[in-house]
Amino acid sequence: MQVIIADSAQEVARLGADQLSRLLRTTPEAVLGLATGNTPIALYEELIRRYRQGELSFARAQSFNLDEYVGLAPEHPQSYRYFMNRYLFSQIDIPLARTWVPDGMADPASAGEVYESLIEAAGGIDLQVLGIGRNGHIGFNEPSSSLGSRTRIKTLAPQTLADNSRFFAVDEFQPSLAITMGIGTILRSRKALLLATGDAKADAVHAMVEGPVTASCPASALQLHPCAVVIVDRAAGARLQHGEYYQRVRQQTDQLSSRD
Ligand code: PGA
Repeated sequence: MQVIIADSAQEVARLGADQLSRLLRTTPEAVLGLATGNTPIALYEELIRRYRQGELSFARAQSFNLDEYVGLAPEHPQSYRYFMNRYLFSQIDIPLARTWVPDGMADPASAGEVYESLIEAAGGIDLQVLGIGRNGHIGFNEPSSSLGSRTRIKTLAPQTLADNSRFFAVDEFQPSLAITMGIGTILRSRKALLLATGDAKADAVHAMVEGPVTASCPASALQLHPCAVVIVDRAAGARLQHGEYYQRVRQQTDQLSSRD
């Protein structure tokens, strides 16, 4: 794992955007794995800014989102399809028909397999963007998820329901099921890019990076990913025991890459 401790949430977004920009420059037809939540909003804002300045284009790319609520139609304001259209797709040049979000209204028995086939037909995911839940989840792979799991229906954990209840009105239906890429799906991406900001994530980030690989912290499975980059701000990285070492690795990596 490459661990980068950035000075601020803005720097997390900038460094994350650098990863996507580099990929899109070398591989314009890249297959992007995208995420919803508060954390990636700043990343998407930065990507939109770069797109508007003519620095990058998504015209030949395609994307697969991690997850969607079961029972919410795409036009529902709390659906993740709606989120993606609002915060990213409507503001860049990616063809909407080449953006995929799991179908929350599809037959639960087959929806996961259908999504896996779509990813496979696209040639697999080049770069998967991830956030992390306070309970260590990635996508909606809650603690105890199989580390080999593929896209399927999951029951949301109480902590996740509580964390996300702020998005739903008091008397509004809040789904307790989601369809999510599995941990095995995420591990098959060619690169994983996890972003975390704020002190509420400090324990989960510590467990992910420095704890054992365990289904109790699904994000710890990224220790098994051949190319995982974790970018956190100081608050989210506050519990890391080896912060100085990660800083040194970063400096040396920067020096090596500036040589060519
Ligand atoms: P957040 O969600 O970015 O809204 O904190 C992250 C997650 O639950 O994966």
